[in-house]
Amino acid sequence: MNVDIGNALASVASPGVSRDSLERLDERVADAHERIEAGRANDEHGYAALNLPERTDPDEIRETVAPVADADALLTVGIGGSALGAATITNALAAESDVEAVYLDNVDPAWISTQLGRLPLERTAINVVSRSGTTAETLANFLVVRDAFERAGVDWTERTIVTTGESGPLRDLSDRRDLPSLRVPDGVPGRFSALSAVGMVAAAVCGHDLEALLSGAAAEADSLAGSLFECPAYAYGTTAYALDARGAGTNAMMPYAESLDTYAEWFAQLWAESLGKDGLGQTPVRALGATDQHSQIQLYRAGPRDKLVSFVVPDERDDRSIPATDVDDLAYLGEATLGELLSAEFEATEASLAAAGRPNVRIELERVDEYELGGLLYGMEAACVLAGELYDVNPFNQPAVEWAKRATRGLLGEGTFEEAESVTEKTELR
Ligand code: PA5
Repeated sequence: MNVDIGNALASVASPGVSRDSLERLDERVADAHERIEAGRANDEHGYAALNLPERTDPDEIRETVAPVADADALLTVGIGGSALGAATITNALAAESDVEAVYLDNVDPAWISTQLGRLPLERTAINVVSRSGTTAETLANFLVVRDAFERAGVDWTERTIVTTGESGPLRDLSDRRDLPSLRVPDGVPGRFSALSAVGMVAAAVCGHDLEALLSGAAAEADSLAGSLFECPAYAYGTTAYALDARGAGTNAMMPYAESLDTYAEWFAQLWAESLGKDGLGQTPVRALGATDQHSQIQLYRAGPRDKLVSFVVPDERDDRSIPATDVDDLAYLGEATLGELLSAEFEATEASLAAAGRPNVRIELERVDEYELGGLLYGMEAACVLAGELYDVNPFNQPAVEWAKRATRGLLGEGTFEEAESVTEKTELR
């Protein structure tokens, strides 16, 4: 992963950050890097996620998923950090796999019924993932999926892989039924777990190269350094932080590759859930090039000066030529490929934002493959941890998310949670 921050500098953009300010911030980056390295060395909570490239065992994951290696479809049951990393990987690489990967995260009954009604359950594997093993959406969906398999006469115990923590209801269930299972490593929060079994089980069932994912991430880990001028991940984290401090409270993540659409969703979770604390944080927005050139770009170029646009651009991609036509006005298309058109769309958008003085950053990948994807996921996680240090917030907790989880369970009658009582009180006032 390469990061170009040229269009975020004050000489180009407003709000922009001056080279002098970045140099001053670099002293804080050096301190933050030391803190991050100490956290990694001690496998501290959260920082342990940055050790996953060397800790995750691809052989163990492949052996565990071997019983479902014949699957035509993979139903991942998980939500938030227990689904988005896997979805980012399998959606980005879907063209390379014969296995259809479907994600049941939301509990919308109509959508769940459609998926279960459409998939060939006897040839479908179930990948149930919950770090805590207590998340209501995941457990409810799993019970519904199990039931659908039973009704279809398919033994779900033969088709299920479980990834969860050391203890909890899902671990108990998995032990009782003797299901193949993997552990969510200690100290790795959900949204930082894509490079553990949490994200890699789906990648393995879909036949992707786990070693390449991990070695791309390891290369990014090796590039962490005590200066933002020497480290692409820290350059991104520092620039986003500095622009937020200067009024760019929104960060639009805009990959120019359809296959990275889910990556923007993953990034939005990472950035929002990790940094949205103590009245601070930058609001992530999901965009897609070239599609959103025909919608959101109007606002980004001419609306309030409160945004950073983050492009992700692969250098190479599988291409397809545009057939020639005898319509004179369309002749220019016949000399191009769809890939060239997409690149031109990106270059035009980047130049148009720069010309309007709107800050943007370019994250460059060589192509969308396992190696580059591993680097991108790791690099953005490291950028986020660095930004957490600069904001002086803990990027590894999520008290607001936990509050809502407890309240949901409380409203459904599990235990007595004061969070549920406050929801009930509010309802009664209406
Ligand atoms: O990043 C996080 O911590 C959350 O998004 C969790 O991943 C999400 O709430 C699911 O939690 P669990 O894996 O415990 O089911």
